[in-house]
Amino acid sequence: MHILVTGGAGFIGRHVVAGLFARDHAVRVLDSFRPDVHQGARPIDGAEVFSGDVRDRAVLDRALDGIDAVIHLAAKVGLGVDIGDLPDYAATNDLGTAELLAAMARKGVGRLTLASSMVVYGEGEAQCPEHGAVRPAPRRAEAMAAGAFEPTCPHCGRTLGTTLVGETTAFDPRNAYATSKVAQEFYASNWARVTGGSVAAMRYHNVYGPGMPKDTPYAGVAAIFLSALRRGEAPSVFEDGGQRRDFVHVRDVAAATILACERHTTGVRAFNVGSGTPRTVGDMAVALARAVDGPVPVVTGRFRLGDVRHITADSSRLVAELGWRPAVAFDDGMVEMSRAVG
Ligand code: UD1
Repeated sequence: MHILVTGGAGFIGRHVVAGLFARDHAVRVLDSFRPDVHQGARPIDGAEVFSGDVRDRAVLDRALDGIDAVIHLAAKVGLGVDIGDLPDYAATNDLGTAELLAAMARKGVGRLTLASSMVVYGEGEAQCPEHGAVRPAPRRAEAMAAGAFEPTCPHCGRTLGTTLVGETTAFDPRNAYATSKVAQEFYASNWARVTGGSVAAMRYHNVYGPGMPKDTPYAGVAAIFLSALRRGEAPSVFEDGGQRRDFVHVRDVAAATILACERHTTGVRAFNVGSGTPRTVGDMAVALARAVDGPVPVVTGRFRLGDVRHITADSSRLVAELGWRPAVAFDDGMVEMSRAVG
């Protein structure tokens, strides 16, 4: 197929482009090469590259010429620095997707694979011993400052046990980035209904691996820990380190994205993309410190109000419907990342 990858010069994008070439697709990349994301624009071997913004209609029309399917990865990621980030998330992610969809309709391109995120579920669902499956109450700054990090039952205030969230769990975005990911999914569904196009919304878990952005306010925790370790400093673990995530390797994420692009051809479908094995942030810090033989992580008790406590996905739909299997084991992935250049 002829595939356009927006954001193809980014962390996940470069692995997707490499995977597409390995499967003999023709690849075109549209990337803005924003300086706050790309420290130096490295070339992408073999791909036809358009440097431009997904909000630029003229660029979009040229980039979509002769294209069969779009993988839309271009987005502003991360939690954001402060509330002043709101307009940039809306402009980049919401408006960017709306312009892309309108252009796909103009050019008759009917197949979309969209980078979404596990953060659309917020705190997800959890088990109360008395009230069963509940949506955890928002965490309060005063409680967290007092060291009470676990979300509680909105009815009785009891501490909750976690479950793996499936794709039918209701949206509950709790920061600007999460809100923009929900919006992207809704815009794409609107587009699919009107045009008859197909959408695979890939709800990525915490992606890590070679090429991960670092030293920006939008870097993920694995990259932040690795940068600290390379400076000879101990990783600084927020809260009590017990917050759970599913760290999934970027090559596995790229493979899932490519399978969805190739195999999902009708209707709108969401897929959680996680390794299936939740870890705590504290455990991840220890694994990385061990991989580089660095200082023992420090648990600081600091917190960021927009953070969710636990996000862990059930990715069995991706396995059952698209035949995906994660291939990189956590410990191997951590060692590989710790040795990667850059
Ligand atoms: C991450 C991604 C987001 C993606 C989501 C999917 C980034 C920046 N965010 O969000 O794009 O949609 O996964 O699940 O890649 N932490 C520390 N020390 C630090 C920094 C963070 O302990 O120095 C902790 C945070 O408090 C949080 C956890 O690490 O509990 C993860 O933080 P982060 O990597 O920013 O990612 P998510 O919020 O999970």
